[in-house]
Amino acid sequence: MATKLTVLSNGSLRVEGTDFEIVDAQGQPYGLGGRERVSICRCGLSHNKPFCDGSHKGHFEHNAVAFDLPTPGAPAAPVAPPAPAAPDAGNQPLG
Ligand code: FES
Repeated sequence: MATKLTVLSNGSLRVEGTDFEIVDAQGQPYGLGGRERVSICRCGLSHNKPFCDGSHKGHFEHNAVAFDLPTPGAPAAPVAPPAPAAPDAGNQPLG
């Protein structure tokens, strides 16, 4: 099975497959105990990083919807200017 990464809405990054490894910053592999599916924390709240421990529940919001990245080296897409602020009724000069 090819390795598959799934970005879960409001949660972790799930890694599935029969031939993958997860390594630390020094390149040392984490022992996965033969698991073919693990969840990686992307909320920063896990007490078992880099793995998800469920701490994200109710504390992390991200609606995971796929999109296309721009081609490397292509100019960045223009950013829309911010909408003008609505008049603030409480900030009107006193007449
Ligand atoms: S994504 Fe689950 S604890 Fe962070």
